Amino acid sequence: MALILGIESSCDETAVSVVEDGKRVLSNAISSQIAKHAPYGGVIPELAAREHLTAVIPVCEEALRTAGVGLDDVSAVAVTHAPGLIPSLLVGINFAKGLSESRHLPLIGINHFLAHICGTFLDDPDHSFDDPSLYPIMALVVSGGHTSIVILRTDGVAHLAGMTLDDAAGEAFDKAAKLLNLGYPGGPVIERLARTGNPSAYRFPRSLTGSAGKPLAEENRYHFSFSGLKTALLYHVNRLGGAEKLEGQLLADTLASYQEAITDVLCRKAFDAARHFGARTAILCGGVACNGALRTRFLETAPRNLQAIAAPKRYCTDNGAMVAGLGWHYFRAGIFAGPDLDAKARLPLETKLPFRFDQA
Ligand code: KG4
Ligand code: ZN
Repeated sequence: MALILGIESSCDETAVSVVEDGKRVLSNAISSQIAKHAPYGGVIPELAAREHLTAVIPVCEEALRTAGVGLDDVSAVAVTHAPGLIPSLLVGINFAKGLSESRHLPLIGINHFLAHICGTFLDDPDHSFDDPSLYPIMALVVSGGHTSIVILRTDGVAHLAGMTLDDAAGEAFDKAAKLLNLGYPGGPVIERLARTGNPSAYRFPRSLTGSAGKPLAEENRYHFSFSGLKTALLYHVNRLGGAEKLEGQLLADTLASYQEAITDVLCRKAFDAARHFGARTAILCGGVACNGALRTRFLETAPRNLQAIAAPKRYCTDNGAMVAGLGWHYFRAGIFAGPDLDAKARLPLETKLPFRFDQA
């Protein structure tokens, strides 16, 4: 049995968790900065880093206390090192290095995308991240900071097949909420207000799907773009006389149609990529995967030969458990980071998984 301490500070959540054998979550402590960033309608990097600094020690203490363990019981420290906001990532990394040095614990650097994907399997008795029968996997990772299609191949490579060229899907929700004075973060409030709306009331653009009359360039087949959608919403709101005029059914129809445009593009591209790369499994994860309309569409419209799995809602938004869960797979494989582990804002197109299935 091995306990891994997982530390996450890539964006606006300071999160620490203890997970047993990559599966059983013993604690999942999170300090969210949502209230601090709410007045700005988005995350302010320097503010985030300062908040991480004050939160990281108490959150770590809470994670250990809730799990009922001490640092002496922990086998390794895993920490997110990419991608994310550099000042924020550095807080988690340096804290993890301090623990690793002072307690002689192995250090593991974690790719945040892979952690989101691996988090899908936490507490799941039926599926495991290292189950060869699931591979290749197509993962749609959707959050406030990223919107990506990752293909996990049988040769142990995670390939970034598509990403957003501008705004992330979560940002599309957050910026729409800001425009309509609905508060931050936008996703949950838009989901709630859209429930009584008609998703076909308005036709918002589906960028990079080849639907605008121009053929889609092959290199953009699995890439996303949501900035045009945001502009289309702005025009729509202005046409109706401004944000204060949008209320009741008009607001619900607008938001349902806007949410529909996002979920439509996400699912179509994800399943297209799954087909193209011969995936057996489709995974939906990241903060936006909390969205009920997206989950339903993803699970119900997946092609028949594809097993579709949505991450449990409690592990969709950023958390330390997904970091500790993935960390265990590296721990088991004996893959560790050195003291030179550094923060990276972006990821390379390919990352190595801690296992592969194409060798005897
Ligand atoms: O993964 P996450 O906690 O942080 C990042 O790595 O960005 O995701 C936060 C994002 C925010 O943009 C938020 O609006 C979005 O996830 N989100 C949602 C919902 N809940 C959170 N978007 C749509 N529907 C939701 N129910
Ligand atoms: Zn995330």
